[in-house]
Parts: sequence; structure tokens; C-alpha cells
Amino acid sequence: MIFNIKKFDIEKEHIDCIVTGIFSLKNLSNSATMIDNLSNGYIKKILSYGEMQGKIKQSLILYNIPNIISKKFLLIGCGKKNKINDDQYQEIICTIVKNLNKMSMKKVVVYLNELNVEKRDLYWKIRQFIEIFYEKTYIFSLNKNKQKTFNNTYEIIIHLEQESDFSIGKIAIKHALAIASSINIAKNISNLPSNICNAEYISHKAKEMENIYNNIHTYNIYEKDMKLLGMNAYLAVGSGSENQSIMSIIQYNNSKKSIKNPIILIGKGLTFDSGGLSIKPAESMSHMKYDMCGAAAVYGIINMIATLELPLYVIGVLACCENMIGKGSMRPGDIITTMSGKTVEVLNTDAEGRLVLCDVLTYVQKFNPEIVIDIATLTGACSVALGTEISGLFSNSTYLINELYKASKYTLDYVWHLPIFKKYKKQLNSKFADINNIGGRMGGAITAACFLESFVKKYQWAHLDVAGTATNEEKKVEATGRPIPLISQFLLNRVKSLLK
Ligand code: BES
Ligand code: ZN
Ligand code: ZN
Repeated sequence: MIFNIKKFDIEKEHIDCIVTGIFSLKNLSNSATMIDNLSNGYIKKILSYGEMQGKIKQSLILYNIPNIISKKFLLIGCGKKNKINDDQYQEIICTIVKNLNKMSMKKVVVYLNELNVEKRDLYWKIRQFIEIFYEKTYIFSLNKNKQKTFNNTYEIIIHLEQESDFSIGKIAIKHALAIASSINIAKNISNLPSNICNAEYISHKAKEMENIYNNIHTYNIYEKDMKLLGMNAYLAVGSGSENQSIMSIIQYNNSKKSIKNPIILIGKGLTFDSGGLSIKPAESMSHMKYDMCGAAAVYGIINMIATLELPLYVIGVLACCENMIGKGSMRPGDIITTMSGKTVEVLNTDAEGRLVLCDVLTYVQKFNPEIVIDIATLTGACSVALGTEISGLFSNSTYLINELYKASKYTLDYVWHLPIFKKYKKQLNSKFADINNIGGRMGGAITAACFLESFVKKYQWAHLDVAGTATNEEKKVEATGRPIPLISQFLLNRVKSLLK
């Protein structure tokens, strides 16, 4: 799919399909008015038959409108003129994508900027348009002999009236494509089964990045290295698996001001979480290949940054391993000395994500980070609390909370700030060790965050629990690529002034 910007002349130019809006009560958009005038009232006449009132989700395909050179027209219901909100705009784009997917053509023009979305500008509208387009046309069929593909061979021209808008339009397309294609790459890794996508597979993918992009250096920390580092909690999680635990470090440095303190993104990369000896019931285990979505998201974010060559210093840590039952498995009751020196009593081997992350939070201190953000499918409790639309946000920094909220509201990749509540820390008191790895049944997302926080050093830290949002029930469980939009926007906002 190619996206372009142009001032299209309905009167003189031919194109395979024109996409134009009809507002509520059959109000025509500017382009629809123009078509109506050229065709001596054809559009209004068609609308008078009552098939379409201009409501959201409505659409109508017309052919051969008199006096117009182009032959196909897609009328899209856009609701109340000048009163389109974010959700309605998303619906409108979905309706466009669904219809275009059914039609055959090579070139389409869309009159996107005629839609006035409340409080949103052209850049935002184009970003959303392209990102939704990618989202709705994504198909995962890498493991099928017969690959399914979407009819995406056409070019989409976004009509812009003012030439002064072209440069911002082009930047929006560039950013949207980098984000949307990085989401697809992350989804492709996440959707792979655990027998293919193990820590070694991901480590190769991470290494591959060095050859694809400038400014990237990747190295892998293997089990023997972790032993030397004392990452015993991380090692304990992978100890029941035939597959080696590997932590892949992707360093991206293109900071113009030679920044010394990086932003670190840590992704939980459990390529399978059986629960270990505290084994999960079959029903809850069935989708646990997705327990590496945090790592895949970090991979995707680095891909986005490197594609756009953003002037940043970012280190991605893909914390990969597999939680299995084997002769070396950790047992409930085991006490492990973590890399920090703190001892942990493992009361439940299924609370393994925090065991991996606690050592990584200690490890990354050596980079003197300014910011550390971890992304993890950490607790079922978080999805119970916030559902599948909202990720849990925990942080020790008001700056990060504010900035992540800002990015969330912009991208509609929703987060909700939950507390690292001091009183609940008591639940982690252990009889035999410094801390234990589970709280009670209640407030499980919070006690998990409390556990992580006790390993956080002197840096601004945010923890995103994406257990509910990293996969999508609607598509019979598939990866969503979240929170790539959120973190991409957070990073774009940080370099905004430098990009202009
Ligand atoms: N990977 C799971 C969390 C999860 C659950 C992610 C559902 C996605 C969907 C995590 O390792 C886990 O098993 N957490 C336990 C923690 C409990 C033992 C304290 C949970 O949520 O039940
Ligand atoms: Zn688990
Ligand atoms: Zn897990």
C-alpha cells in the first residue's frame, strides 16, 4: 500500500475510486457537493431514495456518476458535521477500509481533511488513518502453506486543498508508516508459536537489526553470562526449560547532543508461561505463547525509532526465557538470591515475570539510565481491573505519568494510572527471605508493581502491565502490538522540537 498526498482535481483528473463524506441529515461534504454540482444533483437524488442518511458506519458505492471522469465512488457516513469525536473518526476509517477491501482498484483518493475532528489537526488525522488502515488489514498466516494476503496493492491519495499543508502531511505519513509497520513486525513475532519463537529466535531477530539499520549495536547475554552476573531470579525462571534463557540488548544511539543517560525499554519475553510447578489450568495456559508480547513491543519500538532515525539514545532489553516444568525447575518455597543481593522466596512459580524483571531492573543500572520503562504481560489481575482496552500504568515519576497520559490521549492507546500502594507491600513480607513473590488474591496488579518497585534504583521508572491489552479477543486472540503506539508517541514528543 502506498500513501500519497496531492491536490486532486475531480473535474479534470481520472482515478479508480473517489472516497467522499456524507454528514448527518444528508449534508454533503465539499467534495460531495462538487460532485453533485458537476452531475446536476445526482448525489442528492440518490440520497433522496433514503438508502443513506450520513450516519456513522453507513456507506454506499456508486458507479458512473454523470459528467465525472472517475467511475467509482464510495460515500461514507460521517455523522454530525464539525462534531466528529475520536471514536467516531475511528469508525469512519474502519468503514472506509472495509469497503475498499471489497473493491478492486489501483488508485483511490480520500477527502480526509474535510472531516473536522474535535481538537485534532491534520497530522493526527493522517496518522490515525494510516495506523487504522494497517491494523484492519493485518493478516497473520506465516505458518500456513498458503499465505493469505490482503488486497493492498493500491495507492491511496489523501487530497489536500492547501499546498502549505503538504509538508506536515508528508511527515504524518512517514511517522504513521514507521509506527504501523513496526506494529506489524511485533505482531508477527508475537503470533508465532513457542516451538518456533523461543529466546534464541528472538535473539537472532535482535541481532539482525544491526544489519538493517544504522546506529544499532546488539549483544546477547546468555545463561553463562547471567550466572556470572548473579541473575539468579531470571535464571530460575528458565531453569525448567530445554530452551536457553537469553537477554538481548539492542542499543540504539543517534543522540545529537551525545546524551549519556539512555532511555531503557524492558520487555517481558516469556516465550511460554506454563506456570511452572505452580502449573496453570489448561484454559489459562492456552494463550501463554503471548507472554512475550512485552519483548516484541520493545523490538517494534526500536524498529520504529531506527526507521525514523530519531535523535535519541534508547536501549531495548528483551528479557526472554521459558517457564516450564523440567528437572531443573524452581520449586514453590525455593529461596533465590537475586542480582541485587535481595533474597526472594518463590511462593508461586507462576509469578515468574517479576522474577525475570527484578534482575533486569538491577542489571540496567549499569547504563545510568534517565528513564526505565518496562512492558509486561504481568498479571491476570490487571486485565480483571482494567479490561482489554486499558493498560495499567505504575510509576515513581510524575513526569512519566504526565507524559505517558499525554501520549495515551493522543494515540488512543489507553493507560490508567494505578498506585504502588505502600500498605500493600506488607503482603510481600516473607517468613524466610527478604521478600516473597506473591501478594494475596486481591489487588494483584498492584502487589506485582510493589514487588518490582523494591528493585528499582535511582532512575525514573514506569511499569506498564499489558496483560489485558497485548492481545485481542475479537480476532480469536491475536497480538495487538500495544503499547507501541503509546511509547512511540512518548518518544516522538521527546524529540518534537528537534524534528522541525
Ligand atoms: N503471564 C501471566 C499473566 C497473564 C495472565 C498474562 C493472563 C496474560 C493473560 C503471569 O506470569 C502470571 O501467571 N501471573 C499470575 C500471578 C499470580 C500467580 C500472583 C496471575 O496473574 O495469575
Ligand atoms: Zn506466570
Ligand atoms: Zn507470565
